[in-house]
Amino acid sequence: MIYLDNAATTFPKPQCVINAVTEFMQNYGGNPGRGGHYLSRLSGEKVLECREELARLIGADAPERIIFTKNATEAINLAIKGTVSPGDEIILSSMEHNSVLRSAVALEKKGVSVKIARADSLGYVSEESITSLITPKTRLICIIHASNVVGTVNPVEDICKVARDKGVLTLIDCAQSAGILDVKSSCADMLAFAGHKALYGPFGTGALYIRQGLTLNPILEGGTGSLSESALMPDILPDRFEAGTLNACGIAGLCEGIKFVRSEGVMEKELENAKILTEELSAIKGAQILGRPGVGVVGLLFPHYDCVEISSRLDSEFLIATRSGLHCAPMAHRTLGTVSKGLLRLSSGYFNTKEEISRAAYAIEKIIN
Ligand code: ALA
Repeated sequence: MIYLDNAATTFPKPQCVINAVTEFMQNYGGNPGRGGHYLSRLSGEKVLECREELARLIGADAPERIIFTKNATEAINLAIKGTVSPGDEIILSSMEHNSVLRSAVALEKKGVSVKIARADSLGYVSEESITSLITPKTRLICIIHASNVVGTVNPVEDICKVARDKGVLTLIDCAQSAGILDVKSSCADMLAFAGHKALYGPFGTGALYIRQGLTLNPILEGGTGSLSESALMPDILPDRFEAGTLNACGIAGLCEGIKFVRSEGVMEKELENAKILTEELSAIKGAQILGRPGVGVVGLLFPHYDCVEISSRLDSEFLIATRSGLHCAPMAHRTLGTVSKGLLRLSSGYFNTKEEISRAAYAIEKIIN
């Protein structure tokens, strides 16, 4: 199988991730923070190590400001629902994934207004398009860093700077771009991550970074293993937002995934593969690349073919994994003019080879010509 669906989840996972999950389950699977015994302590140390690794990767100085969630969607829900109140406005870009769109729109019935800033035909969201919508009622701006549909990278640093000057909070969806953006240069208040994508961790792992000084309301209540005598969620972080037993086994794997991403040459190879993918696919006659791919995510449009059929034939005839359709981002497809038929998306990762990418381009040529 040639796997070119890394935007949905990276595959394969590095061997160190697989080993860490197995080792955790075999040797130190106590419940982290829920007991004073050895196995619970070992498990708690592993969770802390992962928090520190992620903090290091994004340049955050306080690991407790990293909240573990089950995916980027949960991190985004926490960021939006934990900061916005009735009467507030939220600004979204028109390239957002349903995780942002649905979380924001669900608040409309509670008196929150949602404003959409339209991206251009490349899926690029200019600073102007977002910040011109700011009013005194604007509480939060949510923007995707790199589009999961066409890979276009947005000027989030510029947007966050203007927002900060105007006293508006910012949430950056880094699901496709973890590791590229750091906390200080981005100037963002919150960053949401998917552990199982660019961080090469297992499914069921994600995180939200919350900057120092920002207070959110929890969206989930329950046991934290701390201040248990109180009927209220503790104020201390990360406990305030981590009710219930964590996916410690997944977090043990994620910890190794982050170390892998930080190790020499990994990000360089990913970028190299991203470049090769764009070059190879742009040479296909009869296919058009939409957007401005920047992170190994390429959306292809075929004027005379159905992208679902091409994806299905790539799978069944050539053993090549891609994703077609709307990619859980109908608003992005509406912006690009592809909502009725969707796009064929190919997304590369560290483990792809140049030969695999060339074979995928060749297979597409064969199908359409
Ligand atoms: N949001 C993921 C994708 O883009 C699953 O495929």
